[in-house]
Amino acid sequence: MNPDVAWPIWSRERAQRVEHALEQALPDAGESPQALHAAMRYAVLGSGKRARALLAYAAGELADANTGAVDHAAVAVELIHAYSLIHDDLPCMDDDVLRRGKPTCHVAHGEAMALLAGDALQTLAFEVLAKSTLPPAQRQAQIALLAQAAGSRGMAGGQALDLSHVGSSLTVTELERMHALKTGALIEAAVRLGAACGGPLDRAQHNALDRYAAAVGLGFQIVDDVLDVEGTAQSLGKTAGKDALQGKPTYVSLLGLDTAKERVATLRNQAQQALLGFGARARRLNELADWIVLRKN
Ligand code: IPE
Ligand code: IPE
Ligand code: MG
Ligand code: MG
Ligand code: MG
Repeated sequence: MNPDVAWPIWSRERAQRVEHALEQALPDAGESPQALHAAMRYAVLGSGKRARALLAYAAGELADANTGAVDHAAVAVELIHAYSLIHDDLPCMDDDVLRRGKPTCHVAHGEAMALLAGDALQTLAFEVLAKSTLPPAQRQAQIALLAQAAGSRGMAGGQALDLSHVGSSLTVTELERMHALKTGALIEAAVRLGAACGGPLDRAQHNALDRYAAAVGLGFQIVDDVLDVEGTAQSLGKTAGKDALQGKPTYVSLLGLDTAKERVATLRNQAQQALLGFGARARRLNELADWIVLRKN
């Protein structure tokens, strides 16, 4: 697809913005222990689509948030995401050697440093939120929200389900729960954190945003599963064809490519329906829903 359509100027600017904020948040590579700080910077900086940061900024715009206030949330979700990728690639998990177009963190920096880099990125995410400029009550709520999304009832729990079902088939309901946890939870957190940086929304608006985020979160992982089949290492920047090789339960393995794509189209519709009441304020979230389902990497 045409990259200009997929990646509007707004997204490019916000991706650059979060890159700069991440660079500021991370310890300098020269600071001791250098090996750990180098591994952290290696895993976070320089690439990655920054989808979660963009969702936080877009939700912030919907809620009239100051962009500077959203930076902390955007950085925090990207740090948690980068940590989850480092650990996801470890030999004890998906055992991957390629990520974001370069050797995975444990291949480049060794398993021990990769493990520790993941640990330290996770705690850094909470440090960033704890030190944000938001009023204390909002800060506390954001920390609790991200902790829940990353933990055993969120991303880590979803990863546990993923690993414990290798080689076994799941029902669609079980599969969607696994996807909603391992990928959806952090995407939902990104949207909520961004919105929480702005003016108060009423309950109906919060529910609408949650419906949007749930649809986009599930859609994101189904697209990832489709791209694992249809993409190449070069287009994805990570090894293709691994899910089938490792016997991972995915939407594609369960229902086939066509049904997976139909499901993604339905989710895109659901996401955009959920935003109708917001009108033009939801422009960026709408664009991101399009991009997330149409992306090729
Ligand atoms: C990959 O996430 C892992 C999933 C949760 C599907 P992304 O596709 O967002 O990876 P990056 O950040 O762009 O590398
Ligand atoms: C990863 O899912 C989800 C995470 C929480 C990191 P995958 O294992 O499918 O992600 P990729 O394909 O390695 O990026
Ligand atoms: Mg995995
Ligand atoms: Mg993986
Ligand atoms: Mg995958």
